[in-house]
Amino acid sequence: MSIADLDRIRAQAVEAIAASADLEALEQQRVSLLGKKGSVTALMKELGGMGPDERRAAGQALNVLKDAVAAALDARKAVLDAVALDERLARERVDVTLTVRPEQLGRIHPISQTIDEVVAIFGQMGFAVAEGPDIEDDFHNFTALNFPPGHPARLMHDTFFLPEKPDGSRLLLRTHTSPVQVRTMLKQKPPIRVIIPGRTYRCDSDMTHTPMFHQVEGLVIDHSTNMAHLKGCLIEFVKTYFEVDEVPVRFRPSFFPFTEPSAEVDIGCSRAGGELKIGAGADWLEILGCGMVHPNVLRNCGIDPSEYQGFAFGMGIERIAMLKYGIPDLRTFFESDLRWLRHYGFVPLDVPTLTGGLAR
Ligand code: DAH
Repeated sequence: MSIADLDRIRAQAVEAIAASADLEALEQQRVSLLGKKGSVTALMKELGGMGPDERRAAGQALNVLKDAVAAALDARKAVLDAVALDERLARERVDVTLTVRPEQLGRIHPISQTIDEVVAIFGQMGFAVAEGPDIEDDFHNFTALNFPPGHPARLMHDTFFLPEKPDGSRLLLRTHTSPVQVRTMLKQKPPIRVIIPGRTYRCDSDMTHTPMFHQVEGLVIDHSTNMAHLKGCLIEFVKTYFEVDEVPVRFRPSFFPFTEPSAEVDIGCSRAGGELKIGAGADWLEILGCGMVHPNVLRNCGIDPSEYQGFAFGMGIERIAMLKYGIPDLRTFFESDLRWLRHYGFVPLDVPTLTGGLAR
């Protein structure tokens, strides 16, 4: 093999490499030259059969050839890589100045929308959001909330129980969001100001009940938090949520094991002409339960009732959504009917805020 032969081989290789039209063709060139069975590799193998002097000279010349081929491959690859990238950028071009079409993003479910609105309103008042598990134990769902074992109020909750454990205890699906009050007080020292949205479950299914529904709970604990704070907070919430300047609000005495005193809140409405309107009117509509946190509950959660007191409230999300958005049938919330969602759903990019507006 003469130097002239090697020069010729090199010239041919470099030309073929430069002529490779794409990365695939270039890879074929690489394999046919430098691969295990490639032509340059074959030449290198011939070195083994040569005498020492001949091998040194031929080895040097072959290395020059090999380096030249490798350099040509690299250079061509850089060019082809850049071409491939340009092509891809052109193909995957996104026009970021194009207006978004929100209708293509689907619709926000009224439950999600209502939770966002409630969070926006209480968030503005300084409440943080807390969450807890859907599967609860008896302690958090009942006992710590001052439902003594065997108390009739437990029966009113139509609880879904999980199978009994070897020790006889049973987990359950939480029947209200109130257990998260307990979880919050057990892990956080006052002052506490949280709202707790979430799923709740009761073994009940008819026109006005679904086995799964949603609640939002509120809890405020501080040194001197009192019933006037509770009233002011809830009246402000009702006005903001229903987007009315004045709404009659009535606190009616009631009973919950975990509050004392307890109240249910009604708001004024009119049903003139078959249309429900929130605000002044002849009728009342119940929207939530509330009260001052019972000292037993504070004690069960490691908070000293001689030092701290507070209020709590709980309301049904479906209920306040139905009232605000005129949704007549509770069960339709969970039927996953796209026509329903298109009608009652919300535009995804209109996130509810107090400054930008709650619902559009
Ligand atoms: N947990 C109650 C229920 O599901 C609602 C409730 C009433 C929550 C009064 C409260 C409260 O925090 O103070 O029926």
